[in-house]
Amino acid sequence: MTTRMSPFERREDDIDPRSETSQLTKMIDASLSRRKFLGAASVMTAGAFMAGMPVSALASSTKANSKLMGFSAVPVSTDDTIVVPEGYNAQVLIRWGDGLFPTSPKFDPTGNAPSSHQEVQFGDNNDGMTFFPLSDDRGVLAVNNEYCNNEYLFPHQGKKMTADDVKKSQAAHGISIFEIKRTTNNNWELVVDSKYNRRITANTEMSITGPAAGQPDMQTSADKAGKKALGTFGNCANGFTPWGTYLTCEENFNGYFGTKSDIKITKEQKRYGLGKEDSGYGWSLHDERFDVAKNPNEANRHGWIVEIDPMDPSSTPMKRTAMGRFKHENVAVVINKDGHIVAYMGDDERGEHLYRFVSKNKYVKGNDAANRKLLEEGTVYVAKFSADDGKIGGTGQWMELTHGKNGLTKENGFPNQEYIHMYTRLAATQVGATTMDRPEWIAVHPNQDYVFCTLTNNKNRGVKEGQPVGGPNPREANNYGQILRWRQVNDDHAHPTFAWDLYVMAGNPEVHKGTLYAGSDNINNDNMFNSPDGLGFDADGRMWIQTDGKYSNKGDYAGMGNNSMLCGDPKTGEIRRFLTGPIACEITGLTFSPDYKTMFIGVQHPGEELEPSHWPDGGNSTPRSALVMITKKDGGVIGS
Ligand code: FEO
Ligand code: CA
Ligand code: CA
Ligand code: CA
Repeated sequence: MTTRMSPFERREDDIDPRSETSQLTKMIDASLSRRKFLGAASVMTAGAFMAGMPVSALASSTKANSKLMGFSAVPVSTDDTIVVPEGYNAQVLIRWGDGLFPTSPKFDPTGNAPSSHQEVQFGDNNDGMTFFPLSDDRGVLAVNNEYCNNEYLFPHQGKKMTADDVKKSQAAHGISIFEIKRTTNNNWELVVDSKYNRRITANTEMSITGPAAGQPDMQTSADKAGKKALGTFGNCANGFTPWGTYLTCEENFNGYFGTKSDIKITKEQKRYGLGKEDSGYGWSLHDERFDVAKNPNEANRHGWIVEIDPMDPSSTPMKRTAMGRFKHENVAVVINKDGHIVAYMGDDERGEHLYRFVSKNKYVKGNDAANRKLLEEGTVYVAKFSADDGKIGGTGQWMELTHGKNGLTKENGFPNQEYIHMYTRLAATQVGATTMDRPEWIAVHPNQDYVFCTLTNNKNRGVKEGQPVGGPNPREANNYGQILRWRQVNDDHAHPTFAWDLYVMAGNPEVHKGTLYAGSDNINNDNMFNSPDGLGFDADGRMWIQTDGKYSNKGDYAGMGNNSMLCGDPKTGEIRRFLTGPIACEITGLTFSPDYKTMFIGVQHPGEELEPSHWPDGGNSTPRSALVMITKKDGGVIGS
């Protein structure tokens, strides 16, 4: 096996973003001496930023040529292809509809294939993923299939759904797990007859674990005990654990529920976006489980983090209710210095929140039987930010979501702890959590101290009540997004207090010269982008930023081209474009081979809404989401 450090081991070397240019250490020191963590600091206004305040000291030192990045930036592209830097290759590993088993039928581009085909093929819209090594040259990939593109899945584009169409749509969702082996030049191929290969869909049986299991609101006519759910869908991004399991995150689950009956929407349903109308999937037309009137509790069994053992295809996925219920984007797991497992989690909706889970018990190296229960019990917290006077930066507090604390009482509508786990968003509002600009991925720097989170955009900021401009969300009608960075006091991930600033504010210096919307100092005409979403680090500390933004290349987005992936140096602030995607796609999903010589990324929904893409197969072919391998022609580490 390649001897690489585990991503859960702390790295003490020159990748550390702590430097004279970093303000976070100073902020922590200042905060500790001031002892005014919460409520005392004033909120930064957009006006102050426009007066020329730096976003962070990082952003003002971007002329340095990063030693971390050994590649030349690629230009903006509007072409229907993947572009990587000189000296690199990009090759498709697997696409939507490719067979995962020896007997899987071939992909039928007409959309007429039945559900039974999709059940044994790679799902649609691949998103978050993790590589689990078996040896130097073999590994298991677990890949989310977030949703489906009706415009390509059916000849009727989803407008005349039959019962089997619903089944097919459900089978296009979930997770695909499969073995791959290294071939030549650090490329990999599917092992079609591997014992590891598995499809998990919207109909796979799962266990509900933790405090919400068995609660009355979790019980349905099909599962009176409230402990067994069927399926997972809206699986956006992911995480993974030190004990070798995959974590998949249920995001826009509400969009699969609907009804033709008249219903009264409860305050809990409203906060989670449930109502009569689904998002166009039509599942409730032929599957009563998704009819909100007939099975109002079914939706409560979704919106969780699900833990999966990728090495045991017969294992039952576990819904981890201890971690709270919201529209989970991804989850970043660290082993805290004291042994507790800390998981950072974002809720991706305009004005929702940033969360943290701290396990009750401690991680014990080598005792994975016990470690596998760590996500069943613990405490959830939500972030509340303050800004220092005149700065886009300051401190923040993790507010505990425990019954009886912080106003989470019966009088305030919180009957018990179980309710808080099921309706975590309501608890967050009660404790005064900061409304955020759509927290997408969170990633912990390999030094284990700095945490980064993409805040993708928020057209409602400063426009809708309860979403004030300020703190880490400093722009009204924010259409470009920013990347938040924080550091826990004493580098203790269980500590209640942290210091924060922004690593970057995306913007368009071509369109908005000299204003708030031109972006921070580390944004220029050559690297500009909008809507950061996917985020991850490699072992050397390169920060990989994937975008899910507007690709119109017009107006506010003029000169930005197709969605892309960029590389950031967390120490100098420099950002360089590494890859551009095909037409109307999003780049999302990131994992590496253990030697970091292959990078796996996802290209999601090329040609969505019938935009003119024929990627990856060209000609007149149906565009298909796919997983792509990036390799370096000299066989080196990606990005070096
Ligand atoms: Fe599925 Fe928030 O992206
Ligand atoms: Ca995303
Ligand atoms: Ca997104
Ligand atoms: Ca997406």
